[in-house]
Amino acid sequence: MKKRIIILFVIICFLTAGCGKSDPAEKQQELTIGFSQAGTESNWRKAQNKSINEELKKKNYQVMYRNSFSDPKQQMQDVMTFIAYQVDLIVLSPIEENGWESILEEAKQAKIPVIIVDRNIATNRKDLYLTHIGSSFKAQGGRAGLYVTNHYQKEEQDTINVFEIKGSEHTSPTRLRHDGFAETVGRDPRIKITQSITGDFIRLKSKEAFSKAIDEGQLNDIDVLFSHNDEMTLGALDALKDHQIENKFVIVSIDAQKEMIDLLKSGQVNCVVECNPFMGNLVATTVKRYFEKATIPEDIYVSDTVFSDQNDLGTIPPRNY
Ligand code: AHR
Repeated sequence: MKKRIIILFVIICFLTAGCGKSDPAEKQQELTIGFSQAGTESNWRKAQNKSINEELKKKNYQVMYRNSFSDPKQQMQDVMTFIAYQVDLIVLSPIEENGWESILEEAKQAKIPVIIVDRNIATNRKDLYLTHIGSSFKAQGGRAGLYVTNHYQKEEQDTINVFEIKGSEHTSPTRLRHDGFAETVGRDPRIKITQSITGDFIRLKSKEAFSKAIDEGQLNDIDVLFSHNDEMTLGALDALKDHQIENKFVIVSIDAQKEMIDLLKSGQVNCVVECNPFMGNLVATTVKRYFEKATIPEDIYVSDTVFSDQNDLGTIPPRNY
């Protein structure tokens, strides 16, 4: 009799323990995602940040959030903190491309998977991260260049000079947007990038650097302004206004923030290549798929559009950033 009672007790314990374990919502509640954000340099970044945080929380993950405010060393420390804390997965939105291999190796040793979002990192070691989720920056530069080549196709002008406003050095959008643009405009020998400044993706920095360029006479023979993001385009427009210089340039910008789309609609800029910040759902779904042990592609692309004075501007969806 005593033996039977013990066996019954063991069966009840086993069954109730099993029930607790099979509740996936409860299990997910316990998972902590370390989210390392690059900074707050643009409205685009704020929208991307909100999108990722909100979607992770919607799926009931605990989010351990660190913003490194554009300081690459701080960002590496932030990721080391996540490793020390033994989070379940790291979402890394990197500032710079280089210097990540040893840190991601540490994450790998600690068995913490890493998902790279938005900007890329420089490594051939695909084993150091699960996937990269973001736009093709080279395609964005190429689309900006295509607008310029099309714009001048029928114009009889011997030289077309481009002033480029670059984002921060050592970052993948700066390198790839430049490459994509240069490669595309290179098909028309009349188009040359003759001046280039860096505005770090920040409105005020671009305004300062562009004002200096105006003072030094660098704008004299310029036909086209190609800027790597909307904040820097706005900075350049601020500088033109301050110097009371008429905006006679063909202007091509990247991001598609609301303010820039409004300027496109009022004819002050010509083309805006979208960089879609709403990647949160893709990120959270990929995290979930990882924990469900589903297959995850090596690269997950976010889709972008192009808005220009060649399109019907009335149909542009509301921007929300
Ligand atoms: O990495 C994406 C770029 O970073 C966006 O184009 C820019 O606005 C942001 O600062």
